[in-house]
Amino acid sequence: MLLQVLGTAAGGGVPQWNCACPGCSGARAHPHRRRRHASLAVRAAEGRWYIVNATPDIGDQIEECPALHPGPGARQTALAGLVLTDAELDHTLGIARLREAEGLEVLTTGVVREALLTRLHLGAVLGSYTSLTWRELPGERPEPLTPDAGTDIDCVPLCAKRPRYAAGTGPDHASWVVALRLTDRATGASAVYAPAVAAWPDTLQAAVNDADCVIIDGTFWDDEEPRRTGISDRTATGMGHLPVYGPGGTAERLAPLRARCFYTHLNNTNPLVDPGAPQHTLLAERGIGVAADGMVIEL
Ligand code: MLT
Ligand code: MN
Ligand code: ZN
Repeated sequence: MLLQVLGTAAGGGVPQWNCACPGCSGARAHPHRRRRHASLAVRAAEGRWYIVNATPDIGDQIEECPALHPGPGARQTALAGLVLTDAELDHTLGIARLREAEGLEVLTTGVVREALLTRLHLGAVLGSYTSLTWRELPGERPEPLTPDAGTDIDCVPLCAKRPRYAAGTGPDHASWVVALRLTDRATGASAVYAPAVAAWPDTLQAAVNDADCVIIDGTFWDDEEPRRTGISDRTATGMGHLPVYGPGGTAERLAPLRARCFYTHLNNTNPLVDPGAPQHTLLAERGIGVAADGMVIEL
């Protein structure tokens, strides 16, 4: 299985266009600190890739990843389709960016598809440009990404947190936000990708216990970060992101795992966006890393 990290930032990116916080200013001064929106490319078969979450950066993310470049035919794309972990704007705005596609397969849960169709009107708007084929993200039994794929996919429902634009709509069940599990059919090696984690059900614990690689929500370092930095009057948990560190933090859950673990979806207020921050040492002592844009993971 081959995974390519296309971006590692939460909504807004690093730097965010209207933000002069230390993280964003640091990234303007030191371009190697820039992070594109969190996204992952998964190779289904030779020259056939799925992109997990369609971010506002998706066009640039494709350009920066040679494996995703088109060719040899004039309009022959390496992109087989999209997989969505949720309906948040930072994970879905990029779908419109792909309207030049001949057609596009999109794997989502039912509630996410309905939000995109009935609240964002993606089907009605994009129908004049391309044809979207919706496929249910398998929850019970893993399925091959494509019939010839060496990689199976399934998901673990995490929570009923809706995007703000879909507040109060749709049924209240946990498939609004899911963790993806990708499993190599030949070796059994698996990766869990969960850029938004508001809750930690036993099913997620079971998936990470078995995994070889875990790439997970590192939006906020601690629960008070959003309030302390003035970006919100809610805690990290209240915003739908379990913090990395401190009581209820995910680092303590990741530390005992045998999997290689990486944080992604870093908000620009997170001290981890500064490569010199001491918080990196605290994670390294627990055997946990921070994903970098461009990172390649082979399992
Ligand atoms: C989130 O991760 O909580 C959302 O993407 C926030 C947003 O709407 O930008
Ligand atoms: Mn987000
Ligand atoms: Zn900022």
